Amino acid sequence: MTAPATTAPAFSPASREANIRSRTGGSLQRWRRASASLCGGVSSGLRRSAYPYPLYFSHGAGATLWDVDGNAYFDYTLGWGPNILGNAPPALISAIAEAAAKGLTFGAQHDLEYEVAELLTRIIPCADRVCFANSGTEIVQLALRLARAATGRRRFIKFEGHYHGWADNVLVSYHPSADQLATCGERPVPVGLGQLPADATVIARWNGRESVEQAFLAFPGEISAVICEPLLCNSGCIPPQAGFLSFLREITERNGTLLIFDEVVTGFRLGLAGAQGFYSVTPDLATYAKAVGGGAPLSVLAGRLPYMELIESGQVIHAGTLNGNPLALAAARAALQFLTEDAPALYAGLFRRGSRLRDGILAILRRRGHQVCASGEGPVFHLCFSDRQPMNYRDLLEADTAHYKNFLLALQDEGVLPLPDGRWYLSAAHSDADIDATLAAVERAAG
Ligand SMILES: Cc1ncc(COP(=O)(O)O)c(C=O)c1O
Repeated sequence: MTAPATTAPAFSPASREANIRSRTGGSLQRWRRASASLCGGVSSGLRRSAYPYPLYFSHGAGATLWDVDGNAYFDYTLGWGPNILGNAPPALISAIAEAAAKGLTFGAQHDLEYEVAELLTRIIPCADRVCFANSGTEIVQLALRLARAATGRRRFIKFEGHYHGWADNVLVSYHPSADQLATCGERPVPVGLGQLPADATVIARWNGRESVEQAFLAFPGEISAVICEPLLCNSGCIPPQAGFLSFLREITERNGTLLIFDEVVTGFRLGLAGAQGFYSVTPDLATYAKAVGGGAPLSVLAGRLPYMELIESGQVIHAGTLNGNPLALAAARAALQFLTEDAPALYAGLFRRGSRLRDGILAILRRRGHQVCASGEGPVFHLCFSDRQPMNYRDLLEADTAHYKNFLLALQDEGVLPLPDGRWYLSAAHSDADIDATLAAVERAAG
């Protein structure tokens, strides 16, 4: 259900695509070769959506990525979020190299575990204790298991458009089409084949108080947790409306339900204390991945002692061969030390430069007559072609995605890479000069 949101020029997609194809033959060749042995030629299904085909990269440094054909790009993908310090940050590389020289993994205890845990419990408001895993998908499942154990209840509430990894119970109603919404109503909509029925998942609408109240009324005394992306980064970077997170805090407390913030994107991006610090609402549990490892595979569950005790006592099982491995924790310690060294200046810079970029792009596009909206914050924001600001996932369905895809092609042709879904990530390595050069490229892309 994509409505044209503009009569402005359409970014010349045919000539942009021809330019890109003429300059990225090495990527196409590699992708064809990879597709004969690697499913879809990619390592994560979402990367298949790259158009005209997935790019292959040789290296990155700071705010820049280079593809295998030698083309340079201003990188606003940041590996889908983890590279908060930019590409190949020297502090992390030397920390990982030093740890690697001592052993790739022990499957046993070492100093980095409690050192990183101490840093995290100092920084994260809800963290009396933490535990480690490797991906956001895993750690969300641990949080939901813990909530079931703590409450003796099976169901949980998840919001439409929110992404919490690819496990069956949360990979529902992620990006349902308008047709699916028309037939399924508020029932969980699976994303792919082979998923078990998500019969414990109750769907609600983001920023919809009534819909959350309805969900509690429909299953009285049965809801173990409400989980949300406190800033809805995976569908339009849609912020919580004023008071919505406090409302979730209040209704969960009233119902003996745990509130879980999935801070996989917002953690260490909206500030050291993540979304819970930014919005001043403290959940019972919070999940982290992406930026906490600065690019190394690490995820974290942080939570209040009365719940985390269930893991401490071994009543709730948390396991994993590579959990707490020294490479990931060396990266995390270096990333956290970098971020905490002068946090007020670092985050002020991230917000200021991100806002300058976002507002600059908006101004360029609006001068040419495009109806474009931006939401989110400086370090992670979203652009879409629409005549009204989306407040939830269903509003976002009205944006003109075909027009945005043409804009992406023009940006890529001019050496600027944001994520395909409209999201832009900023790192500490993006300088004002990078923003100036990016805005000049956006001028050229807009034609
Ligand atoms: C908010 C959120 N939660 C969970 C996940 C899953 O994390 P991972 O891809 O590390 O499994 C993601 C991934 O993008 C995410 O954005």
